[in-house]
Amino acid sequence: MASTSVVGLQWGDEAKGKIVDLLSFDHHIVVRYNGGANAGHTIVRDGKTYKLSLLPTGVLSPHLQAVIGNGVVVNPVRFLEEVKNLRDAGIPVGENLIVSNHAHLIFPYHGEEERVIEQGAASAIGTTGRGIGPCYQDKVSRSNGIRVGDLLHPEYLRERLRVIVPRKNLILKALSRDAKHFEPDALCDEYLGYAETMRPHIQDSVALLHQAIKQGKRILFEGAQGSLLDVDHGTYPYVTSSNTSTTGIWSGSGVPAKYLTRNIGVIKAYTSRVGKGPFPTELDDGPTGIGETIRKIGREYGTVTGRPRRCGWLDLVALRHTAMLGGIDEVTIMLLDVLSALDELKICTAYEQDRQRLDDYPGDAFLLERCKPVYETLPGWKTDISAVRKPGDLPGNARRYVDRIAELLQLPVSIVSVGPDRVQTILMR
Ligand code: IMP
Repeated sequence: MASTSVVGLQWGDEAKGKIVDLLSFDHHIVVRYNGGANAGHTIVRDGKTYKLSLLPTGVLSPHLQAVIGNGVVVNPVRFLEEVKNLRDAGIPVGENLIVSNHAHLIFPYHGEEERVIEQGAASAIGTTGRGIGPCYQDKVSRSNGIRVGDLLHPEYLRERLRVIVPRKNLILKALSRDAKHFEPDALCDEYLGYAETMRPHIQDSVALLHQAIKQGKRILFEGAQGSLLDVDHGTYPYVTSSNTSTTGIWSGSGVPAKYLTRNIGVIKAYTSRVGKGPFPTELDDGPTGIGETIRKIGREYGTVTGRPRRCGWLDLVALRHTAMLGGIDEVTIMLLDVLSALDELKICTAYEQDRQRLDDYPGDAFLLERCKPVYETLPGWKTDISAVRKPGDLPGNARRYVDRIAELLQLPVSIVSVGPDRVQTILMR
């Protein structure tokens, strides 16, 4: 049984959706295992653009079963909205879309809790405001968590909300005088309304996936966010609340790691980050600087929040760390065309901290703050490469940049992407 994972090796927005879309023909099932509607996946197919934040990108290929695993946090409003948008765009979405009965539910009080904690706080993480962190908190607390499967048990759901919501109201009021107040019965009625439409999609996804494994079906695991945002292995506390790297697959889907036979790490040809936190190779060089040039050409604005993304050079110290962590077998380099305007390119190969050279990624955000990048400079290619389709047609300096990344990572580069469309793809092997 061959399964593939596609994960981002940076801080998210690496264009993983395009790789998942390209690989969809070769798989039977696509699974999301972490995060929620904080992800922003843009897929361009035959000139049409699709934006998804909660549903797996694979839902665009109706021959696939698309599974939202138990490790995901689900906002039913977003779920139903995305299903409707896809149907309106002519994509059939039926019972091929499955949501795990053990995925946790996001309620409006989660968004409110996030708002009052983040708003104006010096310790703010710069979250997406989608209630992700508070929902995961409630999952781990056990006493406050409510799962998708509970939607099918109205009495149990009402009982739970009658205990949880008053507790939430007390906490919210203590955090902020202007916090919203929630009514348990009104929330219950609202969610039971969603339950009716979601019912055909709710299943025991673990049983379904193991049945599929027995039948020899191929599964594609679609990571959301990037490995540097992993709650255990990323730049804590400036991370999201789930395991975004391949480490999250086992717990977030119930499929053991032994079934993963191909781990693909997706990287941008440069680096971007939204939200707060250390970023050693950031190009914070003003409105006419290279950082702004990359942001403009790469349209580096958040899909979910519209925030401008911070942009910088490629960081090989970080990539070596996340590739190691994820057991990555090959990498794909995305958005190479964005760098075509630049005279020269820099790659960070090591850090310097207190005059000491560091080759390994420091595990703590406060240590990373003190790291200065050590760069190697490569010449740019200054030619439009968006129409290149074969490795041999890449300009020499573009090829040199790609080869140097492979050499520094000691991993093969299997795909180079030179534009958002499916066809703007170079298969390197
Ligand atoms: P949260 O996931 O909304 O709690 O946000 C935590 C951090 O992760 C913030 O810095 C967000 O900007 C970042 N983040 C969350 N989802 C994504 C994503 O899909 N792409 C890039 N950054 C993300």
